[in-house]
Amino acid sequence: MAGEDRTKVWIEGRVVEAEDARISVLDHGLLYGDGVFEGMRVYGGALFRFEDHLRRFESGARALGIPLPDGLDGMRAIVLETARAYGRDEAYVRLVLTRGQGALGVDPTTCHDPQPICIVTGISLYPEDKLARGIDLLTSSLRRPAADAVDPGVKSLNYLNSALAKREARLRGADEALILNARGGVAEASVANVFIVRGDRLMTPPPSEGALPGITRASVLEIAADLGLETRECALGRMDLFSADEVFLTGSGARIVPVASLDGQHLGLAEEGPGAFTQRIMEAFGRYVEQHGTPIR
Ligand SMILES: Cc1ncc(COP(=O)(O)O)c(C=O)c1O
Repeated sequence: MAGEDRTKVWIEGRVVEAEDARISVLDHGLLYGDGVFEGMRVYGGALFRFEDHLRRFESGARALGIPLPDGLDGMRAIVLETARAYGRDEAYVRLVLTRGQGALGVDPTTCHDPQPICIVTGISLYPEDKLARGIDLLTSSLRRPAADAVDPGVKSLNYLNSALAKREARLRGADEALILNARGGVAEASVANVFIVRGDRLMTPPPSEGALPGITRASVLEIAADLGLETRECALGRMDLFSADEVFLTGSGARIVPVASLDGQHLGLAEEGPGAFTQRIMEAFGRYVEQHGTPIR
């Protein structure tokens, strides 16, 4: 049914079409990026690692001091209702909680009614041919802020750093940004974690380097260990990417994406497409999602 293909939005107690979803211009989510969000996937009619996403959402909201209306159960019900209304077995889910409406001024204590929003739709972060061939990265001139500025471990609505890094990459003809931390170490991509393969070892920067503790990232570390591969969370530099056998990104939106180049230089041993190690992880990830879903119906 054609109607089922349309983006669905839960807002103010009901599910509506995207064009009918409205928020106040005085919402501090809009005015100041004050809020949290979560991005997750429905695979085969089931929400992938739903409880882990909810937990991260709740801890982010708690860190910012935004109470969840009706607690985690309320959020769980909102997501399930919206995903069912969307009606497709493959979907992307965006759960948002803004600080809510307040006075025109940054003071969050003027906001008393946090606003949950859930958007369920389709998403594709990169063109299909790029996904097959591998995407091109550009090292961003913007650094990931330190945890005592805007904590990259909290999925807040303040994504200007990521948005501008992505813009710079796109303006320079690349697909995605590689974002370094203040020390020049690899943090992550705009909305995805970075992995490299060297020999039979898989490596990714830890959250202390400015990486979000991604749920796809955690899944890939688990999958690789199950495959008998050595995994390490360690600081990485750009040179580690240039000298890696394989490089790939992970994220709920991105899934697992091979990287073909960084700043115009080819990466990895494979001429094109995912390397052998990445391919194994991608295949195992397909099986893993089937075992870690919460059915939406
Ligand atoms: C900044 C950032 N890093 C990494 C990720 C990947 O995390 P996950 O696998 O949980 O989606 C995201 C996801 O949106 C993100 O926003």
